[in-house]
Amino acid sequence: LSTLPVELGEKYFQMFPEEEDPIWGNPCDDSRHIKTWSHNKTCQQLPNFLVIGPQKTGTTALYSFLSMHPNINSNLNSIDTFEEIQFFNGKNYYRGLDWYMGFFPVPINSSSQYLFEKSATYFDGEQVPKRAHALLPQAKLVTILISPAKRAYSWYQHMRAHGDQVALNYSFYEVITASESSNRPLRDLRNRCLLPGKYSQHLERWLTYYSSSQLFIIDGEELRTAPVDVMNSVQKFLKITPPFDYATHLRFDKKKGFYCQIINEDKTKCLGRSKGRKYPQMDERSLKLLQRYYLSHNTALVKLLKRLGHQNIPGWLKMDLSDTM
Ligand code: A3P
Repeated sequence: LSTLPVELGEKYFQMFPEEEDPIWGNPCDDSRHIKTWSHNKTCQQLPNFLVIGPQKTGTTALYSFLSMHPNINSNLNSIDTFEEIQFFNGKNYYRGLDWYMGFFPVPINSSSQYLFEKSATYFDGEQVPKRAHALLPQAKLVTILISPAKRAYSWYQHMRAHGDQVALNYSFYEVITASESSNRPLRDLRNRCLLPGKYSQHLERWLTYYSSSQLFIIDGEELRTAPVDVMNSVQKFLKITPPFDYATHLRFDKKKGFYCQIINEDKTKCLGRSKGRKYPQMDERSLKLLQRYYLSHNTALVKLLKRLGHQNIPGWLKMDLSDTM
């Protein structure tokens, strides 16, 4: 009794250093935890599904389409996090469960309300699947894939548009061919362009924690060209009722060059200027290099998709593979 809590804590972590890094579980899944959990709290303030990314594949479009559904709610916005909570990947995780739950509205009728959050960096975050599964073992996961070469280029253009000096000073080709002896910022940009595109590796990591029935993979090209079909499949996968009729809420906007939300007969609401940017095509040399770079990863992805029961291999994947022959 003479030992102070802090001293006791220090002793504990000396004995169990591996527990110093917390893993948050759901208090409602453990009767001992729920006994000490405040009566004012509810475990319903957690998402039913996660849109995990990766970045630049159309995650904002999917987010906005999902949010149009009257029974689907995303997290509340916060100046702290801009759009995305990014709880499971970075230092936000150490802010704890209360911080995370505070982003979600208390569902009015929990049986028909679906909560989700979209953080596009979850996809390739080393720690994310383990942490997400500890808290949300029943959650469903939605990911979008496009050609990893195209994704890398879109990220580069994104960084240029944000005034990133490295992206402005080096060509795309220079970025993707940067070597270990290149300067640190250049290597960092190269990694953010290239690494998320090793799709099979990242998906396998998710699949060591979640079952394949919990994972839904969207072909990002299909999301762009046939969003109504994609949204119907997503709703089926999530078992969301009643189904929302996206055909009467989405229309191709010629000026934007993308599908947008219908406001009325002649008006649509599209995503902002930062989504669907206009930029020159990728140079042929970079494209060829990236198709070779991703060859083994794309081959593994085809195998993975077949294992997961996908009948149709995305067109971009076939193309990326055939062009390297
Ligand atoms: P570009 O701006 O490079 O064309 P994310 O939201 O994950 O950052 O992805 C952005 C990408 O979503 C855009 O990349 C664009 O190609 C794609 N996209 C797909 N459907 C879209 C839509 N309906 N409106 C705008 N962008 C869309």
